[in-house]
Amino acid sequence: MGTSAVLSSIFMTFFVAVGCFMAYRDVVTAKQASITRHYTFNIKLKNITRLCHTKSIVTVNGKFPGPRVVGREGDRLVVKVVNHVPYNISIHWHGIRQLRSGWADGPSYITQCPIQTGQTYVYNFTITGQRGTLFWHAHFSWLRATVYGPLIILPRRNESYPFVKPYKQVRILFEAVINQSLQTGAGPNVSDAYTFNGLPGPLYNCSVKDTYKLKVKPGKTYLLQWINAALNDELFFSVANHSFTVVEADAVYVKPFETNILMITPGQTTNVLLKTKSKAPNATFFMLARPYATGMGTFDNTTVAGILEYETSSLTGLKNRPLLKPVLPAINATNFVANFASKFRSLATTKFPANVPQKVDRKFFFTVGLGTNPCPKNQTCQGPNGTKFAAAMNNISFALPTTALLQSYFFSQPNGVYTTDFPAFPLHPFNYTGTPPNNTLVSNGTKLVRIPFDTSVEVVLQDTSIIGAESHPLHLHGYNFYVVGQGFGNFDPSNDPPKFNLVDPVERNTVGVPSGGWVAIRFMADNPGVWLMHCHFDVHFSWGLRMAWIVLDGKLPNQKLPPPPSDLPKC
Ligand code: C2O
Repeated sequence: MGTSAVLSSIFMTFFVAVGCFMAYRDVVTAKQASITRHYTFNIKLKNITRLCHTKSIVTVNGKFPGPRVVGREGDRLVVKVVNHVPYNISIHWHGIRQLRSGWADGPSYITQCPIQTGQTYVYNFTITGQRGTLFWHAHFSWLRATVYGPLIILPRRNESYPFVKPYKQVRILFEAVINQSLQTGAGPNVSDAYTFNGLPGPLYNCSVKDTYKLKVKPGKTYLLQWINAALNDELFFSVANHSFTVVEADAVYVKPFETNILMITPGQTTNVLLKTKSKAPNATFFMLARPYATGMGTFDNTTVAGILEYETSSLTGLKNRPLLKPVLPAINATNFVANFASKFRSLATTKFPANVPQKVDRKFFFTVGLGTNPCPKNQTCQGPNGTKFAAAMNNISFALPTTALLQSYFFSQPNGVYTTDFPAFPLHPFNYTGTPPNNTLVSNGTKLVRIPFDTSVEVVLQDTSIIGAESHPLHLHGYNFYVVGQGFGNFDPSNDPPKFNLVDPVERNTVGVPSGGWVAIRFMADNPGVWLMHCHFDVHFSWGLRMAWIVLDGKLPNQKLPPPPSDLPKC
């Protein structure tokens, strides 16, 4: 696909969206602050060509990346998903709080059975207390690789951003292209390229034409909406000679800060302002992204390039402009990442308060990391000493059930599906970041933590050095949490908590557990249901780096999970 075709399709989407708002404005009076927006997602196969290979992929409405879903804070979204492909699927609205609408959260075998071929399910939920950029993605097996798209939450009508009004909004999805078949489910799939909005750019074979170009005018402020939709890669990003002001993360405003490099983990989203130079400079600027990686596994260390270009009237001038390159941190720049993460702070104003729990009812300490399972008979396994790779929290590799946990819980039928004995602390403590233990075997099970409504929770997530320390982007469904502390080495329960930030900690849905370190989060369990928590690296997720919380109903009617919708899929 030529650059211009792609650009026009990007702007098409932009204009179509604007068109919709105008139509809505006609029917929405000033009093009706919130509306219902309907979308239809037809899941279908489509041939696409990337890096000179054509393959058939699973898409929504034949689009890749998938269509943009837009709503305002307070709106209700009704998305009808129709499955026309020969695979099961479900869709997750990543970062949406799903207050009392857990049936619409989407992870297969957690809140719903997957939507089978030929079946339909309607996701119905309200956007409450959130504004900014999120994304949606498939939450069944490997399908997230191609089934995802942006989910943009605009402020309520008549409300503005707590920062300068951008001249234009531009969304940019990072993703990785994997040519190798994913269906086999063999070892971790190493990607072949990274892309901006599906375009790998000139540093890859055969891709000069597929270059993302951001055309800007001088003296304007652009809002860039970054989404890391890659399966397994944390990414650094920079634009030559330009810096950004970070204003929002995971659909929560943050105290603005300046940076010329961004780091985004899979599952994270970040809105930044880019102020262009007051006069069109006599140069064009590379925008580059490439991974941050700390694990021992192989990874794709290539670089995706796009171009930031100032609009000019003279075409000849364009050709002779020098092309400037930004400098990115080293691939394993863990200190840079820790520093960058610590710059994120809540606005903590009256209008946008940081409601971080000051007192904690229940404390948890979960190790997160890799491990092994014995290799099944008649198989060859890629793990150390012929074992099979596994990943675990508190050494339990979470097995997905064959029915949905939320249904089993709601209809009080846990037997044979799950137990509620997930350990609050490791059963066998060890020096987590020291020399790893000889025995790296995990145990397997579907164990959950059950807590009463309105429990205030603290979880320390501790990386382990088993099969190598590695950073893990941990994502919690159904909640945002406050990141109250982070550090390297082992968490120290007496000396670290006094240093926690209980004033303006950042609020997010996905946090990077530092490689060889720990992070502490807090949240109020005010949303009844069953909520998955997991590493957002697809490979670690599939190896079992996941667990789930049962948050019980409260006493009041508005503290209870309603019954499931009648079209909830069956397993
Ligand atoms: Cu975006 Cu369960 O994940």
